[in-house]
Amino acid sequence: EIINLDPVSAVKGNYRHFMQKEIHEQVRSLTETMAGRIDFQHNSILIPTLNIDEVDFDQLKGIKIVACGTAWHAGQVGKYLIEEIAKIPVEVDIASEFRYRDPLVDKNHIILAISQSGETADTLAAMEEGRKKGARVWSIVNAIGSQAMRLTDGYISMQAGPEIGVASTKAFTAPLVDLYLLAVMMADKKGLLSAQERSQYIAEISKVPDLVGTCLDRENQVREIAAKYKDTEHMLYLGRGINMPIAYEGALKLKEISYIHAEAYPAGEMKHGPIALIDEDMPVMAILPHDQWYEKMISQVEQAKARGGKVIVVATDGDTLASSLADDVLWIPEAFWMVNPVVAVLPLQILAYHIAAMRGLDVDQPRNLAKSVTVE
Ligand code: AGP
Repeated sequence: EIINLDPVSAVKGNYRHFMQKEIHEQVRSLTETMAGRIDFQHNSILIPTLNIDEVDFDQLKGIKIVACGTAWHAGQVGKYLIEEIAKIPVEVDIASEFRYRDPLVDKNHIILAISQSGETADTLAAMEEGRKKGARVWSIVNAIGSQAMRLTDGYISMQAGPEIGVASTKAFTAPLVDLYLLAVMMADKKGLLSAQERSQYIAEISKVPDLVGTCLDRENQVREIAAKYKDTEHMLYLGRGINMPIAYEGALKLKEISYIHAEAYPAGEMKHGPIALIDEDMPVMAILPHDQWYEKMISQVEQAKARGGKVIVVATDGDTLASSLADDVLWIPEAFWMVNPVVAVLPLQILAYHIAAMRGLDVDQPRNLAKSVTVE
């Protein structure tokens, strides 16, 4: 007999929501965003659509990343990657601010827009503002053929496949990898990397799909923690260094699909005010993988606990200190510090998804939100 599969359920497969499907697609989307871009034989990165050979890196004054929402968080991780690997100054701006700030850019700057839809009005306007001032305009975009892909001097396609859920997941992790590849490619163009350093950077990013797969295998443990916090009215996300943007991304995921008041802070800011918020009704999410900021983050957890706060930590497998201090642990596998952001965001995506689903909310189409904000 003919089974009438309505197009939506056919595409969603056996997932309850597009968002859950897209979270689980990240092993493939991260593989796809690297596909054809790593020349393992010559140990180099190839992204022909970027036209990188047109850039005079001796004259380049800096890169201005412009984006909105989740894409802005990706840009902030990009700053750490590009400055650390390619030694190029990077400023990251919210596009709606950049476009009205009469920014100090000229022909020796690159504007790098990041946009899943490629149609976000503020991001397109920021690109135009840079172009008017003579800057080179690049973009990292998911939607093929979108304006942010076409109106550029070069682009990187995220190659993550269509993202339907309003809350962005795979279109957050894909640009993190693209920014890493871009940083390595620019460093190479500047002659900064030995063959050994290039192959080490390439080896580390190649591990990302497997690391993400390990996180996905832990969904049930994350769901149990989601059940404990699904009725909370507040959540404070803390991170430092390259993982500070992951605190912001984790908080955005929770607030936009569960409507819980979630906010993020650079952990070092707590003593300048926010620590007054901590009590038993304000759970704290601390992102503290094994990296150069770990000790600082541990002291944040101790301070939050001392004030009666409940603490959830995103911690590296085997971290007995963090697990002895925290009320709950979202475990992630050991990874190179520069790829920790891609790995650490996975349990935060899964946690937000299950809390919203348990609250019976419209996860794929949250109230008041659109998938692409094509108006100001
Ligand atoms: C993220 O989950 C939101 N959907 C939203 O912040 C989004 O990232 C922002 O509107 C930017 O969209 P874009 O990447 O399509 O430009």
